Amino acid sequence: MKRTLTRRNFLRLSGLSAAAAAIAACTPALSGAATYGNPPLSGTKATSPPTATPVNTPTRAQTSSQADVALALQATPATVAIFPGRPTQVWQFRGQVQQGDPAVLQPVPNSYLGPTIRVQKGQRLKITFSHDLPQESIVHWHGLHVPAEMDGHPRYTINRGETYEYEFDILNRAGTYWYHPHPHGITGPQVYAGMAGFFIVHDEEEQALGLPSGAFDIPLVIQDRVFDGNNQLVYRPNGMMDQMMGFLGDQILVNGQPDFTRSVEPTTHRLRILNGSNSRIYKLAWPDGTPFTVIGTDGGLLDAPVQRPYLTLGPAERVDLLVDFSRWAGQTLTLRSLSFSGGGFMGGGMSTLPNGASFDVMRFQISEDVATPMPYKTFVPLMTGPVAQARGAGRAWVQADRVFQLYMQFGQWTINGRTFQMEAVAPDETVKLGTEEVWEFVNQQPNGGEGGGGGGGMGGGMPHPMHIHGLQFQIVGRQPPTNAQQRANWETVKDGYVDEGWKDTVLLMAGERVQVRLRFEDFTGLYLYHCHNLEHEDMGMMRNYKIVA
Ligand code: C2O
Ligand code: CU
Ligand code: CU
Repeated sequence: MKRTLTRRNFLRLSGLSAAAAAIAACTPALSGAATYGNPPLSGTKATSPPTATPVNTPTRAQTSSQADVALALQATPATVAIFPGRPTQVWQFRGQVQQGDPAVLQPVPNSYLGPTIRVQKGQRLKITFSHDLPQESIVHWHGLHVPAEMDGHPRYTINRGETYEYEFDILNRAGTYWYHPHPHGITGPQVYAGMAGFFIVHDEEEQALGLPSGAFDIPLVIQDRVFDGNNQLVYRPNGMMDQMMGFLGDQILVNGQPDFTRSVEPTTHRLRILNGSNSRIYKLAWPDGTPFTVIGTDGGLLDAPVQRPYLTLGPAERVDLLVDFSRWAGQTLTLRSLSFSGGGFMGGGMSTLPNGASFDVMRFQISEDVATPMPYKTFVPLMTGPVAQARGAGRAWVQADRVFQLYMQFGQWTINGRTFQMEAVAPDETVKLGTEEVWEFVNQQPNGGEGGGGGGGMGGGMPHPMHIHGLQFQIVGRQPPTNAQQRANWETVKDGYVDEGWKDTVLLMAGERVQVRLRFEDFTGLYLYHCHNLEHEDMGMMRNYKIVA
């Protein structure tokens, strides 16, 4: 069941052309549409300064050869059979284990996705990244606490035929992290072309809980794409408008497959769900309204499970769930995304499936009987002790140390009116190692404007999933929008936020304010913070922050 651009949709789009022209008129020239033909990608690099020559600064890491695991990771053009008929041209990560347990890499079958990397906390990991793509790239380990030069900053991009050596210790707690490219201006098209994979960390704390594992631990990445009549990926056919609003596909893929169905047993499973989409927000729900039991978020397990009627998941966010399928034994269960409002101006984007539309995400086929003995509890006590204590601290709204306002200026999404420059970091983006701060994100146009929405008249702003590199933070709190329309939009998603636990990405609906508490530990250097709507990121809604000793 593939959607293609319909005439009805074309007409709907052309109705917007006046507005599009208005936006384009006040916007610096960015490139337009790109189609993945053969070669799969025509460059859509946004206006950005030329990248410096790759500097792979020697560190403690590279002088050591004590790695527990050594991997080779390549990015390469490939073809995958996604639909019957013509295979789809993609760009793909491929990997080999050069040293250590071969189970560290698990390929995702029949998919463009990169292999799932599974490591243990405390392991030292060496990864040699090379690529065979016609444009620069670099890999970022989303959510990991690693030295700045191991983090995949765009100033470290390499070209075809070059390699980048990563070596770092796994300091993160057990959790669901992921990896994807991070070259400036072209992260969106590269992720879209297929470059992404899970990075799962296990540790003893998690092991002691006896959570579902093996076939009962299921990573699921949800993405959206547009395919043309020849089964090829299409990116940003509406050019500038897709960049301003974020590009939305009309075909939902789970683990790289359309109409994805997973067979499960009528017992408890652990589902790790990643929103790996460029800009789509999901509002996940079971059709019968059964609530979700959430046991973890971006940075690992919670102190205690929490329940949600539905889950609001912005780009790059993860939720870790325990689902007891026994109540649906013998049935087919559809995971849905429910409708919500405030997904973007002009009704939520240019797609035939706007941000905020409802649709089926995937199906679970639940067997009648349990084939394996049921080893798992439905509801487990989770963290206690130091982790819980660390997280419980400081949950009151405070005077923030830094405020970052998200808004549109001169036709560009900005953070405090600034856009990305490769090496630039302002004095108010410099923080001190070993300190703790509260940062406040404000999704509002300054001076009483309508709020992050490109000024008045655009329908009340856009959501921005804000991501901070190099660390996991805690969400101190949120303040709902004061504007009535924005408040009404916010009401349609707010019960699905999971603000507990450790996070690296936080979704702000238009008009919202969020405070996060972060601690700068172990490493100095330049790290990124940005909107993880990848089209926004690519057009410069990203900045460096610098940790100094
Ligand atoms: Cu998932 Cu800076 O990125
Ligand atoms: Cu990241
Ligand atoms: Cu954004």
